[in-house]
Amino acid sequence: MFALPHLDLPPLRAAAGRVRLPGSKSISNRVLLLAGLAEGVTEIRDLLDSDDTRVMLAALRALGCGLERAGPVLRVKGLGGRLPVREADLFLGNAGTAMRPLTAALAVLAATQGGAFTLRGVPRMHERPIGDLVDALRPLGCTIDELGTPGYPPLRLRGQAGGRLALAAPIRVRGDVSSQFLTALLLALPLAALDTPVVIEVQGELISKPYVEITLALLARFGITVQREGFARFTIPQGSRYRTPDIVHVEGDASSASYFVALGAIAAVDAPLVIEGVGSDSIQGDIAFVDAARAMGAQVQARPNALEVRRGRWPLQAIALDCNAIPDAAMTLAVMALYAQGTTRLSGIASWRVKETDRIAAMAAELAKLGAQVDSGADFIAVTPPARWHAATLGTYDDHRMAMCLSLAAFNPLAGALPPVPIRIEDPACVAKTFPDYFETLLALVRAAPAEVPVITVDGPSASGKGTLAAALARRLGWHFLDSGAVYRATALAAVRAGVALADEAALARVAAGLDLHFDGDRILLAGEDVSDELRREDTGALASRVAALPAVRQALHALQLSLRRAPGLVADGRDMGTAIFPQAPLKVFLTASAAERARRRHKQLISKGIEANIADLLADIEARDARDRSRSASPLRAAEDALQLDNSQQGVDESVDTVLQWWRQRNPLDEGR
Ligand code: DC
Repeated sequence: MFALPHLDLPPLRAAAGRVRLPGSKSISNRVLLLAGLAEGVTEIRDLLDSDDTRVMLAALRALGCGLERAGPVLRVKGLGGRLPVREADLFLGNAGTAMRPLTAALAVLAATQGGAFTLRGVPRMHERPIGDLVDALRPLGCTIDELGTPGYPPLRLRGQAGGRLALAAPIRVRGDVSSQFLTALLLALPLAALDTPVVIEVQGELISKPYVEITLALLARFGITVQREGFARFTIPQGSRYRTPDIVHVEGDASSASYFVALGAIAAVDAPLVIEGVGSDSIQGDIAFVDAARAMGAQVQARPNALEVRRGRWPLQAIALDCNAIPDAAMTLAVMALYAQGTTRLSGIASWRVKETDRIAAMAAELAKLGAQVDSGADFIAVTPPARWHAATLGTYDDHRMAMCLSLAAFNPLAGALPPVPIRIEDPACVAKTFPDYFETLLALVRAAPAEVPVITVDGPSASGKGTLAAALARRLGWHFLDSGAVYRATALAAVRAGVALADEAALARVAAGLDLHFDGDRILLAGEDVSDELRREDTGALASRVAALPAVRQALHALQLSLRRAPGLVADGRDMGTAIFPQAPLKVFLTASAAERARRRHKQLISKGIEANIADLLADIEARDARDRSRSASPLRAAEDALQLDNSQQGVDESVDTVLQWWRQRNPLDEGR
């Protein structure tokens, strides 16, 4: 949803609730490849739906695998080790978990069955090393052309049918740059192990060992039991064949869990945060992050498939930790360090430099913007919390983990930031790599002080276009939207349905106080029923205008409207948003289109819906409603003294939106000077 240039987060103060994690990226892409190579149909449940899995799926489809989706289940009809397609140009985005294993698998398949395959990605992918894997594959007899910089994608993998691989000698692969090279070989070489065992030897100290454990566990699920000597030597037994386990469940992503474990440790102040999808039964190494978080002070209860987190020690405790085994989740520790007493030193993270971005440099630069003191080197980062927090615009480097980690800096009030500061996350949509709904999920769990949540009020008379303007503003900012007219309309509708007389103010106020109203995107639900269309009817509007004139009704609806002021912000439209409901709003807009122009617009709108209408009647109706809204004693329609007037008679919606956004920029501390 947050396909915005940036998302501003106000200071946040607490978090609680329940989160269901998206599927693990590492497991999803491994399972997809294994299912694609196996014979028969594999049913995959809870597969991650993200950029990285989408490129893998597209690649498998291009290679001839059958893919069929039925709700949360994906059925993959595998190739059974036989290539029906001999040529393909595959775009793999920035997914290392697709690029490395597909390189190994297609190099082996092309070398034995013939074919030509090109593997490429986004520019950053072409800066991520793959030379160690190429060096491991070439001695087998695989033909690999490096189409750009030697040692980096794009690659072309070629071969003739009937080719044989040289498997007598062990295959040697370096393990100290990325464990994905070893994983790629382990996943692909069962293709060549029908007649001979295949031995892989790791040179140098293997990093990120837990990821190799995931690979071995999933190979076992597909019928391949790799024999091993620690992490130094692996043997794929002769006669190995991928056998589909029929059904595979993908567990929740343990790296994604780290943001919520951290969230709980920092902000689950009065109620716990429950994370569903990973727990003590997980095969993902990043689950070890939980121990690191505990060492910093988190209180975590681990169940087989869930984690329950509360704040324990506060402030958190700085730690010094070798993070070689949890490189991805370790980024989250760097941000937890903002809330710790002392300096947190994370070492063993040289691999950060060859990930989606140079994560050591990126993390150092962005944490420093917040005021933290950061020291870093080839394979470590040390973070001391800010003495004074700064409102900051935080770059995310097209790196999902940077965006997710940095969002946690919004809890600065809990670290005593004075004043509490908002933060800006640039390009929030980059989380789509592994967690497309991350920000929606986060925002549903958090609490801000209402006064610190920005509000833009848009008031004005009937048919002035406030609703359209306000909804567009909310979309552009990624904020919530309150259509307060709909609240009055819903009250009128609920009263009619309950048979309450419009003269009975006390009874109407009771209806208003008990209103079961939910805004769900474009839909408005009254007691669970979608009443959006009924609310928009002219007769409902006329009733609403009468109901809205009653002080007891307005009073009863006050709290409901205030409760919608939630992070990251609210755009509220109505008659009294700036005067009565949000008198402290930092930006108030009052629309002043003429009655004639408004009648013309309403006419056009009705005609376009196929409803007959007459301009003169509409004008009379609008003028009557204006008079009633302006003259009533309770919250009459008027501009707040500090409201900015916008006459949109001659303006299109886009122009009005741009005007208001410009006004907002002049008031937003994150835009100062722009
Ligand atoms: O904006 P609208 O047409 O949906 O509003 C319906 C009625 O509700 C309108 O006649 C005035 C009333 N109203 C109000 O009194 N205060 C608000 N904040 C919003 C609407």
